[in-house]
Amino acid sequence: MSHNVKVVGVVGAGQMGGGIAQVAAQAGLDVVLFDAQGEQLKKGAALHDKLLARGVEKGKWTQADADAAKGRIRYVEKVGELSGADIVIEAIVENVEIKKRVWAELGKMFTGDQILASNTSSISITELATAVGDAADRFIGMHFFNPVPVMKLVEVIRGLATSEATTARVLALSSAMGKVAVPANDRAGFVSNRILMPMINEAFYTWMEGVAEPADIDEIMKLGMAHPMGPLRLADFIGLDTCAHIMEVMADGLNDDRYRPCPLLKQLVTAGRLGDKTGRGVFDYSQK
Ligand code: 3HC
Repeated sequence: MSHNVKVVGVVGAGQMGGGIAQVAAQAGLDVVLFDAQGEQLKKGAALHDKLLARGVEKGKWTQADADAAKGRIRYVEKVGELSGADIVIEAIVENVEIKKRVWAELGKMFTGDQILASNTSSISITELATAVGDAADRFIGMHFFNPVPVMKLVEVIRGLATSEATTARVLALSSAMGKVAVPANDRAGFVSNRILMPMINEAFYTWMEGVAEPADIDEIMKLGMAHPMGPLRLADFIGLDTCAHIMEVMADGLNDDRYRPCPLLKQLVTAGRLGDKTGRGVFDYSQK
């Protein structure tokens, strides 16, 4: 099935939304990137300039390709400017109430055959779809991975009401964006975080119990399992608050306490040591 998408609307110009916009533009699609905060849009545009320029330096694409991709992205501060989009991909804060509020507004704007997609990492697609009423069949999860331009996967999450046609269009669109799309059903954590987060959580228990020092835990997992980063470095990269939050969502959603976050993980979050974004998490990045 053809995806039938010419214009991609992205809501949220943070790391994920910005990455999704860049990948879509580089795939030749027109992009409208919306963020209510002008500062965030400026940061998103600056990151696009930097990453596109770096690709030219490395010979990954030409200056003309970079300019054309940048020219396909419109940065907008008014939600109404999304109206011509054929798909809206939402990538805002992982908070169910805020997401539902935004989706209730978007649902009223997109009453045709547009696809409504959330990049949530763990919130139920079935629950978010309740915010768009009759459009639940057009609602789906498109779970991208950080850094979006590098990571090949899009985990495509089918909510209870998601139609076959919506799934087929999103699978086609993801591959047109140069990604490998893999479908999964809507259970807390989906597939990726259901398996990744308990591994990260276990790394914190291993550290807490003094089995090994953090750097050694990571070295063992990097070299022994051929992972690009050890689990504790990866936790810092993702954000310790995000890791703890996803574990809680799984503990509640799967109704099983084995998914509760490790006390040491929670303690670092309480201390404000959230990882790369605060300069310190498991490891210290303040000198970088
Ligand atoms: N944006 C765009 N490109 C980036 C980038 C970024 N933020 N960071 C790195 N890159 C590119 C570099 O340009 C480079 O490209 P090249 O090979 O074509 O020249 C390539 O990635 C490798 O980068 P570096 O040489 O600087 O560094 P590394 O080799 O150490 O790779 C990494 C960095 C790609 C981040 C690698 O360590 C990695 O793959 N780590 C694991 C990442 C991961 O697991 N992500 C998923 C997190 S889970 C998630 O997102 C889901 C959520 O629900 C929690």
